[in-house]
Amino acid sequence: MRSFYCGELNDSHVDQEVTLYGWVHRRRDHGGVIFLDLRDREGIAQVVFDPDTEASFATAETVRSEFVLEVRGKVRLRPEGTTNEDMPTGKIEVLGKELTVLNAAKTPPMQLDEYADVGEDVRLHYRYIDLRRPEMMEKLRFRSKVANTVRNFLDGNGFLDIETPLLTKATPEGARDYLVPSRTHPSRFFALPQSPQLFKQILMASGMDRYDQIAKCFRDEDLRADRQPEFTQIDIETSFMGEEEIMATMEDMIRQIFQSHLDVDLGDFPRLSHAEAMRLYGSDKPDLRIDLQLVDIAELMAGVEFKVFSGPAADPDSRVVALRVPGGASLSRKVIDDLTEFVSIYGAKGLAWIKVNDAATGIEGLQSPIIKFIGEEVTQMLMSTLEVETGDIVFFGADKIKVVNEAMGALRIRVAEVLGLVADKWAPLWVVDFPMFEEDGEGNLTSLHHPFTAPAVPVEELRAEPATALSRAYDMVLNGTELGGGSIRINQPQMQQAVFEVLGIGEEEAQEKFGFLLNALSYGCPPHGGIAFGFDRLIMLMTGSTSIRDVIAFPKTQTAACPLTDAPGAVSAAQLRELNIRLREKVS
Ligand code: AMO
Ligand code: AMP
Repeated sequence: MRSFYCGELNDSHVDQEVTLYGWVHRRRDHGGVIFLDLRDREGIAQVVFDPDTEASFATAETVRSEFVLEVRGKVRLRPEGTTNEDMPTGKIEVLGKELTVLNAAKTPPMQLDEYADVGEDVRLHYRYIDLRRPEMMEKLRFRSKVANTVRNFLDGNGFLDIETPLLTKATPEGARDYLVPSRTHPSRFFALPQSPQLFKQILMASGMDRYDQIAKCFRDEDLRADRQPEFTQIDIETSFMGEEEIMATMEDMIRQIFQSHLDVDLGDFPRLSHAEAMRLYGSDKPDLRIDLQLVDIAELMAGVEFKVFSGPAADPDSRVVALRVPGGASLSRKVIDDLTEFVSIYGAKGLAWIKVNDAATGIEGLQSPIIKFIGEEVTQMLMSTLEVETGDIVFFGADKIKVVNEAMGALRIRVAEVLGLVADKWAPLWVVDFPMFEEDGEGNLTSLHHPFTAPAVPVEELRAEPATALSRAYDMVLNGTELGGGSIRINQPQMQQAVFEVLGIGEEEAQEKFGFLLNALSYGCPPHGGIAFGFDRLIMLMTGSTSIRDVIAFPKTQTAACPLTDAPGAVSAAQLRELNIRLREKVS
């Protein structure tokens, strides 16, 4: 039996006989004395073997990195001058008496005793070794502790943890489905849930009142640093609570998590309407650590000769904005060229700028390729509207609203990173008053959240003016990442039908896909609403990780594969036959 974890030992254990289990982190041979750094989940302890204990010394000579050992010995203070202040166990060592090799190990494909920059493909292929690294263990431990806080909070607030099925029907959250063929129903497929959305609503119809689940969700979509095809939500639904009560409860939960685990007080969360967020930051998930805002200047630019600005200024589907960046006058031509290249990813055709080298000398103190096009008078007015100061740079974007928002929103973040203008703090907020629908570019309306979100207008108004209708949805944003999203739901079948109609889902299709939900709504479904948080994203932000993959024990790669198990894998002809599936020769 283990008496202590290696990492637990300290000078209060001096003279105790201990039994430790762990892996050889490092082995050093010091002229007749062998030092083993023994590592387990909780940390590392130094074990010393001297030739007096003959048998164990001989064994110690044979062990290599990552061998699994059982060590019995006595804790003692390290000799003066050999203590290690950087190590929690650095004041003591264990004088090894008995040593048993429980298992040998091949030479590991990556070094664990120093930070080695191995490729992620190697790390994921040998994930069991990668996870032995203390920083990875720490992240998974942190994740486990936060999950515990979440469960305790929700339990304490009367939520019931209820599991919902994974083999189910499609749940529309805007991604492709992962499908599972059914053997017992040939030619039919289950879909893995993109979220438990429909089931949690049905649980409200069942009278469960408050539901929660730390739930797996599956979405076959393009992957990025903060997205996985299989990810975890803290999923929540409540009955008889309005958006204010839901948002207040959820804010409490997130505040408590940050207080307990990072000793951070997040304070009250500001609120921003979707329209304001887009206007000021060009984004529905603004990073409020950055104190830069877009300023609309279409009115000023409407009359200038410069068509690049005056054209969009006169077009109601376009925007002309300025972004004043303090300190930006120091940016080199090369950096400005790079930023111009950067905004072109979002469709921007250029990136006009004005540097304010000396604000006191008016036009003389400005430097820019566009003053000659917009004229001195307009430039003066612009500079006073923007209240520029010496050392600023002002960037301009003029194009269709979507292009300007995306390009200038992204530029705001990029330039803040380049100039070190991202404050070292936590900046949470709620984004509210979302539109119900957005256009898909071909004149069709699609749900901005999902089709079960309640509109903020009555059914007649929704039918009459769907494009301008707002919804009762809310997103929680933290440091520019969408942490969670939810809404008050539709609980009347008539309203749900109306929304389906706006979305072009006919009655027959609605019955076939969501008949069970429409039925549930018509048998006394209470008013209800909820939210889901991206649990992996939350842990990623809290641990300062750059990738969501670093906080998931067994993540998928960018191409949605698992290098450890080599999934997705081939299946046998017999299995396919059983499932009534024939593969095409070549999938195009
Ligand atoms: P939504 O689709 O906004 O809402 O998802 C909720 C939260 O889940 C996280 N998330 C992801 N995390 C990692 N990888 C992904 N591929 C991924 N997709 C989403 C995000 C997001 O904010 N049923 C609704 C919630 C509700 O209305 O209650 C839903 O799923 O952090
Ligand atoms: P041009 O007339 O194309 O030489 O552009 C003059 C300046 O305006 C250059 O600095 C361009 O980068 C910039 N510019 C061109 N198109 C746009 C646009 N749509 N939005 C912002 N700046 C632009």
